[in-house]
Amino acid sequence: MSAAIEMRDVSRIYTVGDTEVRALDGISLSIEEHSFTAIMGPSGSGKSTLMSLIGCLDVPTSGTILIDGEDTSGLDDNELAYIRNRKIGFVFQHFSLLPKLDALDNAALPLLYAGVPLRERRRRAEAMLERVGLKDRMKHRPSELSGGQKQRVAIARALVNNPSILLADEPTGALDSATGHDVMDLFHALNDEGHTIVFVTHDAGLASECSRIIPIKDGKVADDGT
Ligand SMILES: Nc1ncnc2c1ncn2[C@@H]1O[C@H](COP(=O)(O)OP(=O)(O)OP(=O)(O)O)[C@@H](O)[C@H]1O
Ligand SMILES: [Mg+2]
Repeated sequence: MSAAIEMRDVSRIYTVGDTEVRALDGISLSIEEHSFTAIMGPSGSGKSTLMSLIGCLDVPTSGTILIDGEDTSGLDDNELAYIRNRKIGFVFQHFSLLPKLDALDNAALPLLYAGVPLRERRRRAEAMLERVGLKDRMKHRPSELSGGQKQRVAIARALVNNPSILLADEPTGALDSATGHDVMDLFHALNDEGHTIVFVTHDAGLASECSRIIPIKDGKVADDGT
């Protein structure tokens, strides 16, 4: 099996005024294709920073990241956006849906950016909303949906381009535990269909359902069990 994601000695230093924050400090790791991985660690340990880098939303200060074997070092914003659009879906804790668009248009948004024609956008977004169990909520705006339904719209949006990798930063953090479990069940089903899934959680119970847990502490991969 080849690696979906590979990080080699990756650091990310934020500069605020004259202070440097070493959010990630020489991380090396490899995540296999079709795997289901949980990232865990204390607040401020660098988990969201790590996810942004894997998701090509940000670039490392030093080190190398390969997505599907493709080296992302030195790529410009357009080239990173191209990789993101083809290979990566991103789900956030607070859904990040556009309030004025209904579920269908929210889910279709990445296809608009990718230049897909309207009819095809609608067809694919409909199929994806049906896949996440929201066939009867296509015309609802975010304010007319429950938290779990909003997160499923966000998952449909993340998957509408059929990316191989699904990244989720505390996707169940804003949900009650039953709804959180529904989202996990959906992730398991997507993983069974072949998607590589990486998600951040503070919930040890949810993490224990994954094939692997990567513990992060002080911007480093911590030893297992710490
Ligand atoms: N844009 C930024 N500018 C400066 N410092 C930042 C920035 N983003 C994050 N940091 C700092 O980097 C460190 C890691 O932050 P990060 O958001 O990755 O943590 P986290 O593990 O996701 O925490 P949480 O569990 O609270 O979400 C923190 O010390 C944070 O203050
Ligand atoms: Mg975070």
